[in-house]
Amino acid sequence: MKTLFIGQNAIYLKSVDSTNSYATELLRQNKVSEGTIIYTFNQTNGRGQRGNSWESEPNKNIALSLILHPLFLNADKQYLLTKITALAVTDLMAEMLKSSTWKERIEIKWPNDIYINEKKIAGILIENSLRDTHIQNSIIGIGININQTCFKTTTNSTSLALLTSKEFDLTETIELLCSFIEAKYLQLKADKITTIDNDYLQRLYRLNSWNMFSANNQMFEGRITGVSDIGKLRVLLRNEETKEFDLKEIVFI
Ligand code: BTN
Repeated sequence: MKTLFIGQNAIYLKSVDSTNSYATELLRQNKVSEGTIIYTFNQTNGRGQRGNSWESEPNKNIALSLILHPLFLNADKQYLLTKITALAVTDLMAEMLKSSTWKERIEIKWPNDIYINEKKIAGILIENSLRDTHIQNSIIGIGININQTCFKTTTNSTSLALLTSKEFDLTETIELLCSFIEAKYLQLKADKITTIDNDYLQRLYRLNSWNMFSANNQMFEGRITGVSDIGKLRVLLRNEETKEFDLKEIVFI
């Protein structure tokens, strides 16, 4: 592992229900050093956002949870962890696709789904626990579709293998992911917030274009203009009003 601390302590599991659940249990029992990763290629009951499940064919994809102790980060800044994780995954995708002839945009669909060519390739589930007003433990769960070519339960999924017709080494991908996360985490620790914010906006799916959304069972046209500090989606409406939405409040059409 060519990193300073991310992934230096690595727990590989042949199979596990959910690496995030395993990490939660580990933190309950012991002190866990910052940068510890728990990973598997066979996650049997992966958890997703909004109580959804995360499906993955055995031995085709990576499922990883990273444990951080970002005590320097105020609770109201926790969305920055979402941003750096999404950016690290887009960096990984760009690196892995750099020799392909394929040239579509790699995008972050708010809040932190990674999309390529309008299809989802990776999902992120971050679970934080606080001490007073700061973040004591952060479990950063990442699932990336690598070698799976057939998706039975989802219609809008893709994988690196589907995009390139190649197979990828899962362990090498984990190592590369760790180095990209470390680079972003060090940027965060060095307080390079403007750079992180700008990089995130650069990658944001549907930024600045008029699109249809739905909220409270009503369809409307809007233009994403950014994301607030606490992670709400900012949408400009046709009547020139700007509204902010939570994850549960808005649906992309
Ligand atoms: C989503 O898209 O809704 C988020 C999916 C997150 C999946 C990852 S895989 C590793 C970690 N362990 C889990 O149970 N979930 C996350």
